[in-house]
Amino acid sequence: MIETQIIKIDDISHSLGDLKRAGELLAVGKLVVIPTETVYGLGADALNPQAVAKIFEAKGRPQDNPLIVHIHEIGGLDKLCRDIPDAAYRLAERFWPGPLTMILKKKDIVPPIVSAGLDTVAVRMPSDPVARKIIEYSGTAIAAPSANLSGIPSPTCAEHVIRDMTGRVDMIVDAGECAIGVESTVVSLLGGIPVVLRPGAVTPDDLKSVIGEVKIDPAVFNQLEQGRKAASPGMKYKHYSPKAHVIMLEGDSSAYSKYVNAHAGEGVYALCYNEAEHLLQVPCLSYGDNSKEQARKLFACLRKLDDLGAKAVYAQAPRKDGVGIAVYNRLIRAAGFEVVEL
Ligand code: TXA
Ligand code: MG
Repeated sequence: MIETQIIKIDDISHSLGDLKRAGELLAVGKLVVIPTETVYGLGADALNPQAVAKIFEAKGRPQDNPLIVHIHEIGGLDKLCRDIPDAAYRLAERFWPGPLTMILKKKDIVPPIVSAGLDTVAVRMPSDPVARKIIEYSGTAIAAPSANLSGIPSPTCAEHVIRDMTGRVDMIVDAGECAIGVESTVVSLLGGIPVVLRPGAVTPDDLKSVIGEVKIDPAVFNQLEQGRKAASPGMKYKHYSPKAHVIMLEGDSSAYSKYVNAHAGEGVYALCYNEAEHLLQVPCLSYGDNSKEQARKLFACLRKLDDLGAKAVYAQAPRKDGVGIAVYNRLIRAAGFEVVEL
């Protein structure tokens, strides 16, 4: 057990001393959970293999799943990566700081443990000002996966982190709720047409508007076929899975509520749009009517359903456009790809 300090940031300009301490802890190889605009991240000095090893231990993360390296200024890109295509600079200019992660060829400075032995590295510059300040104060680049225990939904507020990580990390920096709520878009830029490996708040259309053609990896919407190698190792692991059996239902609110009401029973819950709430005869959590709101609320709802002791959850499918693509991608994993078309 590590003793975990929890610091709360209300006003960044009054908290620079605390953020400096967080940066200093990172600089000496400690683990610090940092807030970002997407989800909370479990940070360590990306250039210190011993520190990075502690991330895998704290999360219970498989060693073959590489980490995203977070930087606070564009210069970090050239420090960590080589053979950087022009498209990467154009994307950085348009979407950084922000919820976009780029996979590029790595330089030797990035230890193999960060990239799980691949010759590539995932890089992102977060926009959250608290995250940026902590990275700046650390004087290094910060490797940070989502700060949840491996396999469960990513943390979108400090309460989630405190539950998962107390006793496992040196410090938790609490800056309230994450603005976006789903993890960053991951795009691979290794030559040929760029490929979206994980959808996020930067949508495929956003990417297209800057670099033209992009592909979406089939694993974004579908279960990885047996024997196929994952382009992003994270895609092959069970993710976002609450204890309850989650079933995703595709259909309008009227068809959805009819189906759910017909399946009412002990421990049965609904995860629905606001507009469906009044039609339901089972206990329900509503995650909003628009995709942005659903992105913000999804992970907290999945955790809440576990707290409520839900046994079966009928979830109303997100729309498959804009940031809805990211919500759909997370929810279909939570459902173990079990979808009923109504
Ligand atoms: O929003 C986010 O991206 C958050 C915050 C903390 O920044 N981080 C995050 O990290 O979601 P994590 O480790 O939970 O997800 C990183 C994903 C994994 O699916 C991993 O397999 C993939 O990115 N990834 C990392 N490095 C890669 C690489 N070199 N090649 C392909 N995929 C990579
Ligand atoms: Mg994660």
